[in-house]
Amino acid sequence: MRRKLMKYGYFDDSAREYVISTPETPLPWINYLGSNGFFGLISNTAGGYCFYRDAKLRRITRYRYNNVPVDEGGRMFYINDAGTVWSPAFRPARTPLDSYECRHGMGYTTFESTKNGIRAKLTCFVPKSDACEIERLVIKNESNAKKEFTVFSALEWCLWNAVDDAQNYQRNLSIGELEVVGGTIYHKTEYRERRNHYAFYNVNVPVDGFDTDRDCFLGAGRAWNDPAAVAAGKATDSLASGWYPIASHMIKVTLAPGEEKSLIFQLGYIEVPREEKWESKGVINKKPAKELMSRYATDAQVDAAFAELAKYWEELLSKYHLESGNEKVDRMVNIWHQYQCMVTFNMSRSASYWETGTGRGMGFRDSCQDLLGFMHLIPERARERIIDIASIQFENGSTYHQYQPLTKRGNADIGGGFNDDPLWLVACTSAYLRETGDATILDHPTPFNNVEGSEKPLMEHLRRSVNFTINNKGPHGLPLIGRADWNDCLNLNCFSEEPGESFQTFGPSEGPVAESVFIAGMFVKYGLEYADICEHYGSKDEAARVREEVAKVKAACEDAGWDGEWFVRAYDAYGHKVGSNECEEGKIFIEPQGFCTMAGIGQEKGYGRKALDSVKKYLVNDYGVEILAPCYTTYHVELGEISSYPPGYKENGAIFTHNNPWVSIAATKIGDGEMAFDIYRRSCPAFLEDVSEIHRTEPYVYSQMIAGRAAVHYGEAKNSFLTGTAAWAFVDISQAILGITPTLDGLSVNPCVPAELSNYSVTRLYRGVKYNIKVKKEAGKSGLFVEGAAVSGNVIPLPTGKSEVNAEYYI
Ligand code: BGC
Ligand code: NOJ
Repeated sequence: MRRKLMKYGYFDDSAREYVISTPETPLPWINYLGSNGFFGLISNTAGGYCFYRDAKLRRITRYRYNNVPVDEGGRMFYINDAGTVWSPAFRPARTPLDSYECRHGMGYTTFESTKNGIRAKLTCFVPKSDACEIERLVIKNESNAKKEFTVFSALEWCLWNAVDDAQNYQRNLSIGELEVVGGTIYHKTEYRERRNHYAFYNVNVPVDGFDTDRDCFLGAGRAWNDPAAVAAGKATDSLASGWYPIASHMIKVTLAPGEEKSLIFQLGYIEVPREEKWESKGVINKKPAKELMSRYATDAQVDAAFAELAKYWEELLSKYHLESGNEKVDRMVNIWHQYQCMVTFNMSRSASYWETGTGRGMGFRDSCQDLLGFMHLIPERARERIIDIASIQFENGSTYHQYQPLTKRGNADIGGGFNDDPLWLVACTSAYLRETGDATILDHPTPFNNVEGSEKPLMEHLRRSVNFTINNKGPHGLPLIGRADWNDCLNLNCFSEEPGESFQTFGPSEGPVAESVFIAGMFVKYGLEYADICEHYGSKDEAARVREEVAKVKAACEDAGWDGEWFVRAYDAYGHKVGSNECEEGKIFIEPQGFCTMAGIGQEKGYGRKALDSVKKYLVNDYGVEILAPCYTTYHVELGEISSYPPGYKENGAIFTHNNPWVSIAATKIGDGEMAFDIYRRSCPAFLEDVSEIHRTEPYVYSQMIAGRAAVHYGEAKNSFLTGTAAWAFVDISQAILGITPTLDGLSVNPCVPAELSNYSVTRLYRGVKYNIKVKKEAGKSGLFVEGAAVSGNVIPLPTGKSEVNAEYYI
């Protein structure tokens, strides 16, 4: 039975944290540790797992899918205080605590709890520049008497390849190997053969015992909530050989009243050059591990690393800072939007509590879009990513749909054929150029399909992206859809009749008839951005060529793509309309209303206004804008996966939050700031905090979907954290609504705001210069002023030799 509690915590904006006040959130509420290499997922009860670079190929700790109790495992700590066993993060012991608090912050999570006069504070983070996770446990005796108790740590090793680990038991249960030296447990599984890496779990004090064999630690038939060794107050000093290797320390602690003790646990990942792997026969080279341990052996070192992480985030978040007087907007813009953009940049859709990390790696379209919100944070890393992504493009301009972060090679299982993919490369490169002005990226020699010798300048990749659409059009002059466009579930060439066939890859990757109005919208928008790039950096002829092509698609879209009151979604393989008043179900879809209006299609004819009015009429609900209406109630073989979902879920009529910002941005395009903000606000996590009981996922980040009105659980969100919504929502509020937008010529100020947001200031670090921008209303004044002087247009001229610029914009 659900409890009637609408909130499970609160925002602490000054600390940039969300504070969770109960371990019993409706679902695990998670955070991400690490920003470059070593990563950890951590829930509000310290569950989760760690990996190095790739959640599939280099998994360090184990996660059990579909497990109950939910969220077992992860970082496990136990305190056995005179027979009462409890965990500082509540799990795994699940003993009721006297007090509990979890704080998810920028790259770290802390827990503070008390039980029977003992206070425990656990701080978990990944230092900025090392491949390890630090877990510092500070325990204080707050009672009036001396306390003698035993602390146990525990984690379970994953045998590196997370897919094998979860399925190939006949091999795996014989390969686990460890070494134990004092307080350090080394996980060297497969190191004897082809792996040149190992992991370790260490504590910075002498231990009184250890366990490395899961079943010796747990005891027969017992679970993580009640391990036999913990209950007995005594580790078994087991040395695992095969089966289920773990790492557990046992430490006896005696504290006088008021006394406290700090224990620093470290989970490290080490790579060793092949020729230096061994210290002696069978004994691994521990030198690099010891070096890593020596960097986090004292509280002062850990404090310094924690402070460095805080400084890193302080600097990142200072790149776009808003003061609007609206607490919720400020907290999303200044903290959580940007934070979620970092996470999606790092993870794409690979590893969350809802994406197992064993399936897809980095998605082509996903990563390109993630970059849109990340660009200003670390442009150098964005640049690298763009090149990695472009390197899985094929010679004909089409692309692999995904790649593994460890190998950076295209994923052959899924292949290509998603015809929107190539254009997203234009989108992110354009955003990079507008942010940085660094045109050298266009010259970067970039291979096709990672084939050595095939390198061409990135600019040529963009040209092939654009040409791919030009060369792949259907009967109405609209782009062919291929396997699917942005909507992965609109599989118009698939025709799957057998359970288990993948909608994504079954059927031909090409079809000569099925067309996408959405890709048409993309082509108009990004074709024009490409033309601008050409014009700006060289080729006027190429710009003119593409503008002509854009005009053709625009005309096709205004004709065959317009349904009278809104934009059509697509044409299926029979040439029938999808997303039209003619259809019985799925009459209107959100994507083309947002994207075609953003692209300015039919602007002169008032199509944008009409399309958005239709969105309001048919798709807007309490929590956002639904993806389509009415939902499909039966399976349509000619439409594919979209009609496989029960009504109101996922692509069949949920609020698929990713595309809500498109509608909001579209509203700014037609000058409707009230609608733009209204749409932004409806699905924005901080605005949904008060209905956490219904929403159920974290109130600080977007979830991929919120069930629509047709669903059984209307308003319930799913698949938190990894969604393109992060990037698009930030672009929407920061650029389209608040109006601070990078252009090729400089920073533009062009707000389209609702009445309640008409007085704000933004500081924006742009191309190394700090811009202080004030937007306000004042009788008799309008437009842009730079250093007090009126400027025509919306772009602040790029300053020379100045580190700070002051501008005002009068609405
Ligand atoms: C989901 C989509 C997802 C696709 C690819 C589908 O089942 O509904 O949202 O993009 O799978 O994994
Ligand atoms: C999630 C996928 O990651 C993304 O690529 C796709 O555009 C959406 N689902 C919509 O289907």
